[in-house]
Amino acid sequence: MKEPVYKRILLKLSGEALAGKQGTGINTATITQIAQDVAEAYKAGVQIGLVIGGGNIYRGVAASAEGMDRASADYMGMLATCINALALQDALEKQGVPTRVQTAIEMAEIAEPYIRRKAIRHLEKGRIVIFGAGTGNPFFTTDTAASLRAMEINAQVIMKATKVDGIYDKDPAKHADAKKFDKISYIDVLNRGLQVMDSTAISMCMDNKLPIITFDLTQPGNILKAVQGEIIGTLVH
Ligand code: GTP
Repeated sequence: MKEPVYKRILLKLSGEALAGKQGTGINTATITQIAQDVAEAYKAGVQIGLVIGGGNIYRGVAASAEGMDRASADYMGMLATCINALALQDALEKQGVPTRVQTAIEMAEIAEPYIRRKAIRHLEKGRIVIFGAGTGNPFFTTDTAASLRAMEINAQVIMKATKVDGIYDKDPAKHADAKKFDKISYIDVLNRGLQVMDSTAISMCMDNKLPIITFDLTQPGNILKAVQGEIIGTLVH
């Protein structure tokens, strides 16, 4: 098997990815497929920190747009990420991968609290660490949580796995002539307002020179290809 080019990565999965075709909630076949893909990359020898969104269960931004208090809506979204974290833990352990869940909001009966040095120790011992509850603060997205945790654990790259196969100059679902970027700079993403991650997350990566690779999660095997350095999706650098 090809050697991975990264020793430690932060993998960001969208919550919607777990829903599969059913659109909401957690689809068993889908989460099993994702766990197999993550396990493949793990077995190649990569240390993996994982941040998962919550949009398959609850979208704070959407609820606040409909008039709900933004902070309350965001807290509900954070709880949704914890549900996904536990589901992923179960799915990964069924693939024989040891994991630990750490949450940014304390719920010690359910999972460990987030402790940076302990998270790093878990990674060194070969456990995938799943970070739940975002940053623990409203008004921040799970993309920002991914950037923050990536820096805290000294990840070499953020891998953002979504439903799209990279970054386009315009929405490929609406424009037949949309062009995909192989590489793009942080500042171009910000200036063009491209929907890769929110601007807080992109700015943090830019300030700390942390590359982002975004690629299509729905293609089985893509996580392994990405950690082996194959050019898939788009590199933001
Ligand atoms: P080391 O012994 O340091 O290698 O790590 P470990 O995670 O195996 O040890 P620990 O004894 O801390 O944890 C054993 C199990 O208990 C693991 O599954 C942890 O995720 C879990 N655990 C540890 N702390 C907490 C906690 O505060 N809350 C919950 N719910 N589980 C915890």
